[in-house]
Amino acid sequence: MHAKRVKHDDLKPDLERLGHDLEAISAFTEPGHDGWTRRVLSDPYLASRAFVRQTMVEAGLEVHTDAAGNTIGILEGRTHGSAIASGSHTDTVASGGRYDGVVGVMGAIETARRFQETGTRLDHDFYVIDFLGEEPNDYGVSCVGSRVITGAVTPEFFDKSSAEGVSLGQEFERLGFSPAAMLDAAWPTGRLAGFVELHIEQGPVLERSGTQLGVVTTIAGIERVLATFLGRPDHAGTAAMADRKDALVAAAEAILMVEQIGCSGEHSVATVGSIDVEPGALNVVPSLSRLWTELRSPSAEWLGTARRRLLSEFTDLADRRGIQVDLEWLNDQDPVHTAQTVQDLIAGTSDSLGYSWRAMPSGAGHDAAHIATVTPTGMIFVPSRGGRSHCPEEFTELADIGIGVHALAATLLELDAR
Ligand code: HGY
Ligand code: MN
Ligand code: MN
Repeated sequence: MHAKRVKHDDLKPDLERLGHDLEAISAFTEPGHDGWTRRVLSDPYLASRAFVRQTMVEAGLEVHTDAAGNTIGILEGRTHGSAIASGSHTDTVASGGRYDGVVGVMGAIETARRFQETGTRLDHDFYVIDFLGEEPNDYGVSCVGSRVITGAVTPEFFDKSSAEGVSLGQEFERLGFSPAAMLDAAWPTGRLAGFVELHIEQGPVLERSGTQLGVVTTIAGIERVLATFLGRPDHAGTAAMADRKDALVAAAEAILMVEQIGCSGEHSVATVGSIDVEPGALNVVPSLSRLWTELRSPSAEWLGTARRRLLSEFTDLADRRGIQVDLEWLNDQDPVHTAQTVQDLIAGTSDSLGYSWRAMPSGAGHDAAHIATVTPTGMIFVPSRGGRSHCPEEFTELADIGIGVHALAATLLELDAR
């Protein structure tokens, strides 16, 4: 006997309450930064998680934090076998926006409220998850919480060091986490019967096409690499141009190569997001440069080709300039296809609710990409104004978020009944 069949339309979110939640969490940010900054394990982040936890408790959920630091709110179902889940993240990039990830966490909490308020008792337990550290941290590693519960962390994961030489494992221990426990905290197979993440699109497709919802088909694969060019320090006034081993000029040439690689495929992109230079003095020829670089595509084949092309072009460049290059591959995340069955559920419930939708890939990475390795997973997108994200201008209308939360609730009801 399935849960009492509430009508999809009755699951519409309370927009005023949802807007209040979104407003309240946006109060947590590093002072003195443009936009919103809640970097993983920072004080504003830890304070915001206490708010999320309290909001889950007040929404009637049984809340706990697992070894990976994920905050999990549970709404008990009729049978305690496997669970269905929804969630996202509440950490941000530096000077980012206030909707990336947050919409998926607050939307899942509102969905849990609506299930209870409509007397909807699901068959499955319903998990609402605020995953730890989805954004790439200072060690170049992203999706910490969702990797841990899907068994995608290795001891090497914790050996990665920051520019200051502190390892990720040491940082986690300093903050009370146990890397050993995290290595052993994968959820048992079958614990999840399905997962749906609501997220802002972070691109222009929905807005440009006037479509209310995106049904995500593929989540882009991401290769991240730290390229270090080692040249030679020289006096900037006396070293002849032809004799120089200038690590920063090499980096400049490498950055343009990365741009060309990014332009070489459909839906592919490539970015150098950060650069370090040493010694960084006006009158010394730079001896070292570090480029934090990423390649993304929904195509595994393109990613393989792009990775090989970057390696060969950087090596040739270094040889030509008589300097050394060292590549440390930080992240190797394959493209992930969401479950067709969940895509169909999202499309079907959007149709039944009268919302327009379109199937589309995600250029952004998400926790869903890891959860998809252990259970049927789908993603719902809502439009981003001007396609902007990871910046203070990131914006999505509350009414649009409400449509996404409504589709999420109806999809989860159908997922529960499968
Ligand atoms: O980088 C990303 O794609 C995601 O926002 N973490
Ligand atoms: Mn992001
Ligand atoms: Mn995100």
